[in-house]
Amino acid sequence: MCDASKPVELLAWYDRNARDLPWRVSPADRASGVVPDPYAVWLSEIMLQQTTVAAVRDYFTRFLSLWPTVAALAAAEDDRVMGEWAGLGYYARARNLLKCARVVANDGAFPETREGLQALPGIGPYTSAAIAAIAYDLPETVVDGNVERVMARLFHVTTPLPDAKPELKRLAATLTPENRPGDYAQAVMDLGATICTPRSPSCGICPWNRHCLARREGDQADLPARKPKTKKPTRYGIVYLARNPSGEWLAERRPDTGLLGGMLGWPGAPWDDVAVAAPPFEADWIDPGIEVRHTFTHFHLRLSLRVVDVGHKVEPKVGQFQDIRASDLPTVMRKAFHAARSIVSH
Ligand code: ADE
Repeated sequence: MCDASKPVELLAWYDRNARDLPWRVSPADRASGVVPDPYAVWLSEIMLQQTTVAAVRDYFTRFLSLWPTVAALAAAEDDRVMGEWAGLGYYARARNLLKCARVVANDGAFPETREGLQALPGIGPYTSAAIAAIAYDLPETVVDGNVERVMARLFHVTTPLPDAKPELKRLAATLTPENRPGDYAQAVMDLGATICTPRSPSCGICPWNRHCLARREGDQADLPARKPKTKKPTRYGIVYLARNPSGEWLAERRPDTGLLGGMLGWPGAPWDDVAVAAPPFEADWIDPGIEVRHTFTHFHLRLSLRVVDVGHKVEPKVGQFQDIRASDLPTVMRKAFHAARSIVSH
C-alpha cells in the first residue's frame, strides 16, 4: 500500500534541490533519458557504507578515473587498489570490492535484480536495495541511518534504535513509489542529509513538514531515540618505525583478515591491553614518549612509538624496507608515520 501524496511532494522537492554528487544522474538528466552506470552506482554505494559523502567524493572520482569500468577494476593489482583505498577505512570493503569486480567482470555485467546483486561479495540488504533502486529504477526500499531518522520523525516512532529498525523499514516501504523509485530513494537520503538533520532539523523548509507527526509533538530533535551506547574500551599497542639510509621504511602488509586487513602497516604488537611486542630487529630503539590515538568502531587505540634510523644493514624478522608515501597507509598508520618523521633526523 503506497501513500501517494508524500512521495510526489518529495520528488517535486528533489527536482529543485537534489545534491550535485559525482556518482549521481541529476533528476533533470534522468527525466531526459540518461541512465546511471551500474558500475558507478555500485562503486559509490560500497564507498558510502559507513563513510560520509564528503569523505567519499574525491576517492570516487579518483577510482573512476583510474578504473573507468568494472573490467578495468577487475584487472587491477590488489595492492594498487588497497593503496588507493587507504584512508577510507573499513578495509574489508576494498577486498570485497575487488572480489565483486572480478565476479561481475567474469559474468559480463551486474545482475539487474536485488536478489542477484545481494549474492555478490560485499553487497548486503541495504546496498542491494540502493543499487537496484538507483541503477535500475526498481521500487526497492532503501533504509540507511538518514532514512531511519526521517521515518522516525515523520511517523513519530519512539521505540529506541536498534529495536525500531524493522518498524522503520516497514513504514519506509509504505512510501516507496512505483514512479521514479530511484530518484525517490535518493530524495529521502538528501532530505535526511540536508533538512531532517540529527540535531537541529530545518523543519520550516521541509517538504514533509505538514505530515510530520514528530513536528506536531515538538520532539523531532529527540528522534530517533537510541539505547544508551556502551562505552568503547581503550586498547594499547606499540609500533616500530625504522628508516634505513636510503630513506626506506620497514613496513609489512597486514594479513587479509581482521582489522586493517590487507593494508600496509608498521610492525608491532597485537592491540590487546598489555601486549608487548618484540622489535622486528635489535637496535637502539628510541622511545619518543609520543602516543598516537585513533578510534575504531569498537575501541579507542593508543599506540606508543619506537623509532630508529638504522645506519647499517639489518635483517628484519618481519616486513621489508620500502618507499612509503603517507597516502599508501591507513589513517592510524599515517598518524604514526607523521609522528615518527618529525623525530628522525632529516
Ligand atoms: N549514502 C548512501 N548512498 C548514498 C547516495 N547514493 N547518495 C547520497 N548519500 C548516500
